Parts: sequence; structure tokens; C-alpha cells
Amino acid sequence: MRGFFLTFEGLDGSGKSTQIRKLAAHLERSGHAVTVTRQPGGTRIGDRIRALLLDSRTERLDPVAELGLMFSDRAQAIAEVIRPALDQGRIVLCDRFTDSTEAYQGGGRRLGSNPVLRMHQVMCGGLNPDLTILLLADFDRSLARARRRNDRTAASGTNEGRFESEDEAFHRRVYEKYREIAARESNRVSVIEGDQSIEAIHRQIVELVEEKLRPVTTR
Ligand code: ADP
Ligand code: TYD
Repeated sequence: MRGFFLTFEGLDGSGKSTQIRKLAAHLERSGHAVTVTRQPGGTRIGDRIRALLLDSRTERLDPVAELGLMFSDRAQAIAEVIRPALDQGRIVLCDRFTDSTEAYQGGGRRLGSNPVLRMHQVMCGGLNPDLTILLLADFDRSLARARRRNDRTAASGTNEGRFESEDEAFHRRVYEKYREIAARESNRVSVIEGDQSIEAIHRQIVELVEEKLRPVTTR
């Protein structure tokens, strides 16, 4: 039996992890088996790749090498966490997946969509999300929220700001690429307006997910 693969996408600080926590609690209360994971990271090997990728002290990482590391992390997560959970019929909630690579490396780093989609074919073994929730708030507000959070994490001594410290033009290219993906893959990707309360967004996500889950659970 195959479970259900749900990914969350959006700019840094768009509220993905907040919504994943709330949705996981809701689904568990309804009796579903849920696995929550994130990218990069989510495995021991992936956490080491994550540290290298996000540490702002990582210098001169070539964009193509960065692309390769994102997919290496993903291949490990698929093998170790995602596939086994789906094979057990679990619902997998994943904070970022290939759309992030298309948006950040394809758009932000200007590698283009093509190399990302081709690598996805090779590295992800045909695994695509059943549903993707894309949280898109107003661009300026998203950036301000991400910067505030970045300042807090810098003050706490953790160092994960390599992408968040990119300039505004980089984040705008990421944002535009997300819009492009949503238009191209409107069957899979549901865009949720991020400028709403946490509760209002949660209710919309629950509605979308329950609608998609119905045919799966009654099969
Ligand atoms: P992400 O996982 O996308 O980086 P988070 O869920 O960590 O985002 O949220 C970033 C910050 O914004 C957190 O401080 C969170 O409490 C806050 N936040 C999340 N959703 C909303 C919302 N809808 N409105 C206002 N603040 C929010
Ligand atoms: P993370 O802290 O997990 O995300 P967020 O700030 O949204 O909570 O940071 C992951 C960073 O890595 C984020 O800035 C986006 C970037 N990233 C890519 O550039 N490409 C990818 O394929 C993935 C998965 C993430």
C-alpha cells in the first residue's frame, strides 16, 4: 500500500514549519500515521550536508556543486525516510522538496529549471508529491520576516543563514520561479495566500488535504 506524500514550499519564514506542526497534530488526532521530515536534513547524512549548505561560513560553493548536494541529500532522505514511510502507508509531510531546488538553484542561482528537472528524474526515482502546499505571502513582508528570524538565530549562535543573507534580487527570483512552478503544475501545487492568520491558513490546508486524502483512505 502506498501512503500520501505532501510537500510544503515557500520562501524562508513563510510559515511552513508552523503549518506542518499543526497539520501533523490534526492528522494524528484523526488516526493517521504521520512522518514529518525536512530538506536539506532529516537523516544523519543529510544533517551533515545541511550544515555545509546552510552555514554562512561556507565560501565559494559552486552553484552546480550546491545543486548536486541538494539532490544528494534528497536521494538519501528518499531511501532512508520517505520511501519506507510511504511503503508503510504513512502520510509524509516534507518541509521543502524539488520545487525548492527549482526555485533557489534554478531561479535564485540562475541555473534554470531544466538541469533541476533532469536531475530530479535521475536522483528521485520517479517520486513526486501527491500534493504541494505553496505558501506565498506578499514578497516584502516575507523578506522582512525571514531577516528578523535570521537575526535571532545569528544571536543564538547557530549559523544557518547562507541563503537568508542573499540579496533581495535573489529572493525575488526565487519568488518568481515559485509562481512559475505553480502555474505550470496547477494540478499538484496549491497556492495559499500567506498574508492570513496562522489559524486561517491551517483551516485551508486541512480542507485541501482532506479532500485529496478521501480517495486514498476509501480505496
Ligand atoms: P518557515 O518554516 O517557512 O521558515 P516558520 O513556520 O518557522 O516558517 O515561521 C517563521 C516565523 O513566522 C515564526 O516566528 C512564526 O511564528 C511566524 N509565522 C508563521 N506563520 C505566520 C502567519 N500566518 N502570520 C504571522 N506570523 C507567522
Ligand atoms: P530551512 O531553514 O530548512 O528553511 P526555512 O528557512 O524555510 O525554514 O533552510 C533551508 C534553506 O535551503 C532555505 O533557504 C532554502 C534552501 N534550499 C535550497 O536552496 N534548495 C533546496 O533544494 C532546498 C531543499 C533548500
